[in-house]
Amino acid sequence: MEEADKRRIRGECVKLLRAAGCEEAVIKHCIAVAELALEIAAASKNKNGNENKSIDEELVFTGALLHDIGRARSHGVEHGFLGGEIAKSLGLDDELVKIIQRHVGAGITAEEAKQLGLPRISLMPETMEEKIVAYADSLIEGTRRTSIEHALSNLKKKLGESHPAVARLKKLHEEVTGF
Ligand SMILES: [Fe+2]
Repeated sequence: MEEADKRRIRGECVKLLRAAGCEEAVIKHCIAVAELALEIAAASKNKNGNENKSIDEELVFTGALLHDIGRARSHGVEHGFLGGEIAKSLGLDDELVKIIQRHVGAGITAEEAKQLGLPRISLMPETMEEKIVAYADSLIEGTRRTSIEHALSNLKKKLGESHPAVARLKKLHEEVTGF
């Protein structure tokens, strides 16, 4: 992506995040996730040759910038779903709504969503763009980049070794990085 396009998109998204009521720390986090997500998208395009040529970098960048817009309403696991509702109310593309809805953890199944008091819909990342944003988010703590090993060990400490989210993040890592 051209620097000028990145600057323009970043400016537009930061405006939306501020207008929604996101704190500055959340906005800084979103910018860090977007930079990493874009790098991952570019690397994955180069590495996999033709296979992933269809990754939409602008969509990855925009989706990553807006992924935590729901934190204007809540910092709980429901912030992905709530962010999707905010995005819909702003008239944003459905592709962006889905990136926002599906970024939490390495995804939330319909059954888990129901148990969390959300509508019974799958919040699992499906497209490469959705997967890259969820993956990049799991590798950024605040604004700092961390390793997949560190992210996995944190998740195990938080949820327990056998929690399905641990295996899900491993799978996401394999799908996004290709190994
Ligand atoms: Fe988030």
